[in-house]
Amino acid sequence: MVDGILTPVSGGTISRHIYGHFSEHLGRCIYEGIWVGEDASIPHVEGYRTDVLDALRNLKIPVLRWPGGCFADEYHWMDGIGPRESRPTMINTHWGGVTENNHFGTHEFFRLCELIDAEPYICGNLGSGTVREMSEWIEYMTFPGKSPMADLRRKNGREEPFRLKYFGVGNESWGCGGSMTVEHYADEYKRYQVYCRNFGPEPLFKIACGSHDTNWHWTEVMMREVMKINPYGDLRRMQGLSFHYYTVIRHPDLRMKAATGFGPEEYYAILAETLKMEEYLRIHGAIMDKYDPDRRVALVVDEWGTWYAVEPGTNPGFLYQQNTMRDALVAAINLNLFNRNCHRVRMANIAQLVNVLQAVVLTEGDRILMTPTYHVFEMYKGHQDAELVDLKLADRRLEVDGKVLPAVSGSASRAADGSILVTLANLSHDTGETVHLYAPECGDVLEARELYSAGAMDACNTFDNPGEIAPTPMAGVLREDGWLSIPLRPMSVAAVRLAPFPTRA
Ligand code: AHR
Repeated sequence: MVDGILTPVSGGTISRHIYGHFSEHLGRCIYEGIWVGEDASIPHVEGYRTDVLDALRNLKIPVLRWPGGCFADEYHWMDGIGPRESRPTMINTHWGGVTENNHFGTHEFFRLCELIDAEPYICGNLGSGTVREMSEWIEYMTFPGKSPMADLRRKNGREEPFRLKYFGVGNESWGCGGSMTVEHYADEYKRYQVYCRNFGPEPLFKIACGSHDTNWHWTEVMMREVMKINPYGDLRRMQGLSFHYYTVIRHPDLRMKAATGFGPEEYYAILAETLKMEEYLRIHGAIMDKYDPDRRVALVVDEWGTWYAVEPGTNPGFLYQQNTMRDALVAAINLNLFNRNCHRVRMANIAQLVNVLQAVVLTEGDRILMTPTYHVFEMYKGHQDAELVDLKLADRRLEVDGKVLPAVSGSASRAADGSILVTLANLSHDTGETVHLYAPECGDVLEARELYSAGAMDACNTFDNPGEIAPTPMAGVLREDGWLSIPLRPMSVAAVRLAPFPTRA
């Protein structure tokens, strides 16, 4: 039993962008997974898979990052505009060395965002592109008047500018994006961002390449250097600083462990790894606070999720992996953490949308399945733009193989209509846990759902059995005398919605 208290005291707004996604030209994410082309036999809308569009619409994806990742820093946007048959090809050197035909480019990305009603987040090429190239891409996309790039856009069939707010200035510039020191990148960032002009109705929200894992120095230097000596105020230079953290465990010879075929030891090892996100948000956040006490710069966790060895027999450069209840727990834990840190984390993008890493959707030919991670995003979507409310859980810990983990992860929010959403995850692989919350200022239970698998520990949805793991109504939730009792089964995720607190006339 874990006791707790739920008090509807506001802790700030949970930006819907925390529920964002990432789609790179990597493996079968864009091609096959989303874009099959206008001549495909797979049912499609203008070349986009119908089944994938339907699945994504149901998630209410608020923001989608593209075209990379590492790919962004070798992407030359002009290759991806104009008639598809005359677009030049390139080698996707990072991801399998395959030929990229550039059939999915700027216009196709914006159309995808329109079709799923997501805001676009574009990552520009600082690693191998020029300032001029980046600046002209922004002019192409957003300039409303007459100009060389706006006229080129019109020639390619788009009269009105695209609506673009989120723009990243390079990706992982400490690694695949140019192997730079932070001191060097900070100068480059300042130079490139000057030429990212505001042509649209809304100024660009510029996102600088940030740190990863425990690289505190990167955050420190970016905050110190980019925010100082700015005659216009820091907000004009950098509205967001990114952060990447992947949950990975390895064999002694450093090979990554697999997505399936694990026992309790590896299950807890992954959860312990993912829980490091809490400390990383705290420490990177504290460094940012030093330079930005009003928290105007957003921490943008624009790559996160599990990273395993690829599925046997698949291209090692395509990063295709299965997804189990363990991944659902990882998603639940991280989303609860992002909610609870919404004062600083104002966007997050899980890697990646379809067929790559911790994907929400997998495809094979004309078949599709929704992963357990998909279902967590669906169960949590009520948190989008809701107010974080105070959920305190007693500090009950699990001790396994020398690792100490919280028994239950949770967060709660109040929607505009006053209803409260409580999301919880029971981390234990074999023990149920009843969460007993004192919640006198909340109404009755409107809906209770759980994601749980009675099957093997590494059970997953397959193309032959795509509905093995899916949310179901939850039994046994009790509301009595101001208390709310939620019986969590082992290794499960729950979402309970409560009516607004009844107000008396
Ligand atoms: O998501 C896969 C890769 O991971 C991205 O391209 C890169 O940014 C990160 O290293």
